[in-house]
Order: sequence, then structure tokens, then C-alpha cells
Amino acid sequence: MGACSIYLTLSLLFSFSISSSSSSFPDQDTFRRCLSLRAPLSTNLSQLLHLPGTPSYNYLLNSSIQNLRFTSPSTPKPLLLLAPADALQVQASVLCCRTHGLPLRVRSGGHDYEGLSYRSEKPTDFALLDLAKLRSISVDIERSSAWVDTGATLGELYYRIAEQSSTHGFPAGNCPTVATGGHISGGGLGPLWRKHGLAADNVLDAKLVDAKGRILDRAAMGENLFWAIRGGGGASFGIIISWKVKLVPVPPTLTAFTIKRAPEQGAIELVSKWQTIAHDLHEDLFLKVNIVSVEGEERKAEAVFNSLFLGDCDRLLQYMERSFPELEMEEKDCREMSWINSTLYYAGLSHGEPLESLLDRGLQPKEFNKAKCDYVMKPIPTSAWEAIWERVAEEGAGSLYMDPCGGKMSEILESEVPYPHRKGNIFFVQYLSTWEDSGIGVENEHLKWTGRVFDFMAPYVSSNPRAAYVNYRDLDLGKNKGISTTYSEARVWGEKYFKGNFKRLAIVKGEVDPENFFSNEQSIPPLLDGDDLRAWS
Ligand SMILES: Cc1cc2nc3c(=O)[nH]c(=O)nc-3n(C[C@H](O)[C@H](O)[C@H](O)COP(=O)(O)OP(=O)(O)OC[C@H]3O[C@@H](n4cnc5c(N)ncnc54)[C@H](O)[C@@H]3O)c2cc1C
Ligand SMILES: *[C@@H]1O[C@H](CO)[C@@H](O)[C@H](O)[C@H]1NC(C)=O
Ligand SMILES: *[C@@H]1O[C@H](CO)[C@@H](O)[C@H](O)[C@H]1NC(C)=O
Ligand SMILES: *[C@@H]1O[C@H](CO)[C@@H](O)[C@H](O)[C@H]1NC(C)=O
Repeated sequence: MGACSIYLTLSLLFSFSISSSSSSFPDQDTFRRCLSLRAPLSTNLSQLLHLPGTPSYNYLLNSSIQNLRFTSPSTPKPLLLLAPADALQVQASVLCCRTHGLPLRVRSGGHDYEGLSYRSEKPTDFALLDLAKLRSISVDIERSSAWVDTGATLGELYYRIAEQSSTHGFPAGNCPTVATGGHISGGGLGPLWRKHGLAADNVLDAKLVDAKGRILDRAAMGENLFWAIRGGGGASFGIIISWKVKLVPVPPTLTAFTIKRAPEQGAIELVSKWQTIAHDLHEDLFLKVNIVSVEGEERKAEAVFNSLFLGDCDRLLQYMERSFPELEMEEKDCREMSWINSTLYYAGLSHGEPLESLLDRGLQPKEFNKAKCDYVMKPIPTSAWEAIWERVAEEGAGSLYMDPCGGKMSEILESEVPYPHRKGNIFFVQYLSTWEDSGIGVENEHLKWTGRVFDFMAPYVSSNPRAAYVNYRDLDLGKNKGISTTYSEARVWGEKYFKGNFKRLAIVKGEVDPENFFSNEQSIPPLLDGDDLRAWS
């Protein structure tokens, strides 16, 4: 009842302030005129600009909202939507928004857990720049590299690489519909990270439109800005148009397995052991574990061990026998496959689905979700695992997804790119709650679940700061959910995401976007020349 009335008041407030402030925006014709002057002659304006109340606006806005929490009528909507088809149209869009003092949100694949790519937490005027049309990919096998536009998804990139070679791959996330725009600018972790690092560790060059509307490549933007966009989180430094990525070698045959264990099969002891060895295994061997609830009459949870090994079944069996015999992995568990098929397998498609599924931008079912995460630096006591088990089993509200660190990740310096969570971490854990029912009561239950698990985990995870991963964006990490305007406000979440790199990010931001044109609730604040650095430390 209480929650319901708050909800009503808020939605009234939102619609009031949107309609009242939109009158301050220069009329749509002025904006349209600006675009027609700035954009290349060949531009079809009705494909670039979409206004509220039109079918194309509704369709486009909705097209890649991945978290259904932010489709509600009370979610602040953009004043206008821009769907550029090339870099010059992005440039024109940026320049016209700047001229009209209209803040810009940029969206590539729309997977941001807090929806910051297409909504604002507080009602303000903004335009939405949607990059879904920017998705060309050109693969150069001879030079082991590829240029990929930021609106292209990981699935599209994987598919295009595999079209040309079965022994090249790219180390990035599991979910094919995540786009390279947000993913790589926030880091990008996946089953190859112990061997090859993050997606952001494998970027050779990039093109971006900066706050002055210039199109810059690595040489033109300079090494500071190029450093910042490789893990500093999208949306603070400009609109990234495309990445040049380094392809990595993969063997023709990889081996995957999925082994499920219930508590009566020793699941809790297995997870206890896993956490002491997974980060130390050979870097060819990625072995993750999820703790998920099992549907059924009785509420239960089980451990799902998932591996990807860069080699054949025989060698994998030897490694497993030596390092983790308790799991009792057997030859029949092996699934030998090509790298590209392993990307399907990790996307949950292991029943002979065609490779073209990787190109399906609607593959990921849309759902309501809330995620939080932690980095773990020392093994968690068995008694705590038992308690975690109960929380997953009895409430059935969410799951734990754990990725082992180590290998290449421990060799890369914390300051190499903005993503700082390197040596010393044994695994990374995501607490993810998903649901399908839009009731506010249901939402509260799920938000509470993630909050409770997060609180429970506090003694066992990294501290000072309690580290977090910017690609698993979480607005609870800040003091208030509004835009952080000062460094000390932003530091609260900024040092969790970036540790010592946060200050350097703010300095770069001050150099390239001193007026803070590219901003959202969790964008990097600019540190300007006149600011007292000592007050910052
Ligand atoms: C189902 C699901 C699975 C996931 N799996 C993984 C995983 O395996 N590994 C992993 O590391 N992460 C994973 N993530 C997190 C994912 O990497 C991040 O949410 C990522 O930022 C999404 O990128 P996007 O372009 O799809 O999202 P968007 O919502 O479009 O963008 C995310 C952020 O980047 C900004 N941005 C987007 N494009 C640009 C651009 N071109 N220039 C500048 N800024 C830009 C946006 O403004 C926003 O702040 C997953 C998320 C979901 C929902
Ligand atoms: C411009 O785009 C609209 C909408 O897609 C289309 O109907 C129209 O024919 C296009 N105009 C030209 C000149 O191509
Ligand atoms: C938005 O997308 C969702 C999920 O794909 C769909 O169920 C819904 O009907 C769409 N809404 C609009 C207004 O298009
Ligand atoms: C890969 O997957 C495709 C489609 O599911 C299948 O036809 C093919 O046999 C698989 N190949 C390998 C080497 O795994």
C-alpha cells in the first residue's frame, strides 16, 4: 500500500516536470534545421530524428531496453531520439545537442543494468543517441585485428571472426546481444579472460566523437583519452564510434563441460574447494561455478560448474584429475567444439542451434533484473557457503555467478587500463535477481534479496574499497542516485569501480570535457586545472 502511493506520486511528478521543461527546449523545427545544416547532404532526416508520439520513436526507444524495470510509464523519456547511420551523423547529432544545451545519453546494446544509456534517474531533458545502426565489422585475419562499430553486438563480432578463421577469437562476455560500445568501454570479461585478459585489454585503436564534435582516432585523441575509454565506463568521454581490436589465437578444438551438483552430492564442499584452486589453474582452463535455485516442489539450490578449456578432452581430464579430482569429472562430460560453438554454448545454446543465432539481437529474453557484484580475495568459510545456499534455495529470488580470476588477469598492472581488479583477486561474483512480473511488490522483494545477499557477503569480500565492476552498474553504490556533481560525491562509487585510477580518469575528463557535456548519474566528474588537488586526496 505504502509503496503503491509513492509510485503514483512519483509518476505524477515526472510527467509534470517533463512537460513543463520541454517548453524551454527550442522548438523541434530549430533542432531539425540544425541537423539538416550539420549532417551530410545524403542524410534522410526522418531516419535520423524521431520525436515523441510517433511510432518510430516508440519502437526505437523500446527496441533495446533490456531491463523491463525501465519500460514503465514513470521512467523519464528522451525529448528526442537520434539514430545515426554513420560517424558524420553522430558528429552532427553531438554538435546540435551541444548548441541547444541538450544533454545526451548514448546507447549501443541497451544492457546497462541501471538503464543509464536511455533514461535518467531524475526527470531532466535529454536526447537519446542510439547506435544500433552503426554495426559494420571488418576482420583482417592476416593482421589478427578487426574494426568493429560500437553498435555491433558481441555475437555479431564473434560470428564475423569465425566466418574467416576457426583459430582466431576475441576475449569478451558471454551474452551475444551485449554491444561492443558499452561492453568494451567498461572492461568486458568472459571465459577467455584468464588467458587473454579483458576485451578492453585487447583494443588497438578507436574512433570517437569528442565534446567538440571532432572525430578522433588514437593518434589524434592522445594516449590519456585512449587509456580512459578502455574500461573507464562508456558515456563519460565521448561517443565511441568504433574499436580496432586485437584477435587472439584459439585452438581448433576446445572442450566445455557443465556439471551440476546438489548439496547431497557434496556441492558445498566442492564450491569450498573450487574457490581455493580455480584462480590458480592453468590459464588455458576456465572453470566457473554458479549457485542457482532449482525449480520444483521443494526449494533447493545446486552448484553448476561450467568450464571452457583451450584444448582437447584428454588434456582436460588430466588437469581435472590433478587439480580437482573431487568434482569427479568424466570423459562423458566433455563437449569438444570450435571456439565459435563455445560462444553459442556459453550463451546457453547447446542443442545444435544455428550459428546465426549469434546475430539475433533479440536473443536475450527481456526481463526485470537487478545485479550487484563483489571481488573476493580470500576463501569464504564453509559455514558462510551454507548460509548462502539457504538464501538462494529458500527465497528462489536470485543466483550467484562466480568467475575465477588469476592467469593473465593477475599479470596486467592495475594502472594499465582503468579496470583495476587484477592481482590478489581469487574470484568475481555477481548476485543477479531476475523476474518476469511487473508488480512493484515483486520488484521490492527482488531488490531486497540482492541487498540482503550483498550485506551478508560484506565480511567475506574486498574492502576499502569494496570493489565493484562498472559494467555491472549499481546506483546503490553512490550516496544518492542523482548526478554526482562533485568529486567527493563521485568518489564514493568511483573508487569502488576504479580504485586508484579514478583520479586519473577525472583528470582526463577535465582535459577533454571540462563542461561535463557527456554525463550521467555515474559519469566521471571533470577535475579542472584550478581545482585543489590536495583537497582531493
Ligand atoms: C544479460 C546480460 C549479460 C551480460 N554478460 C556480461 C558478461 O558476460 N561479461 C561482462 O563483462 N559484462 C556482461 N554484462 C554487462 C555488460 O557488459 C554491460 O552492461 C555493458 O555496458 C553493456 O553494453 P551495451 O552497449 O549493450 O549497453 P548500453 O546500455 O547501450 O551501454 C552501457 C553504458 O555504456 C555507454 N555507452 C554505450 N555505447 C557507447 C558508445 N558507443 N560510446 C560511449 N559510451 C557508450 C552507455 O551510455 C551506458 O552508460 C551483461 C549484461 C547483461 C544485461
Ligand atoms: C526517408 O525515410 C523515410 C522513412 O524511412 C522514407 O519513408 C522516405 O522514403 C525516405 N526518403 C528518401 C528521399 O529516401
Ligand atoms: C517493448 O518491448 C517489449 C519486449 O520486447 C514488448 O513486450 C512491449 O510490447 C514493447 N512495447 C512497446 C510500446 O513497443
Ligand atoms: C558447431 O555448431 C554447428 C551448429 O550448431 C554444428 O553444425 C557444427 O557441427 C558444430 N561444429 C563444431 C566443430 O563444434
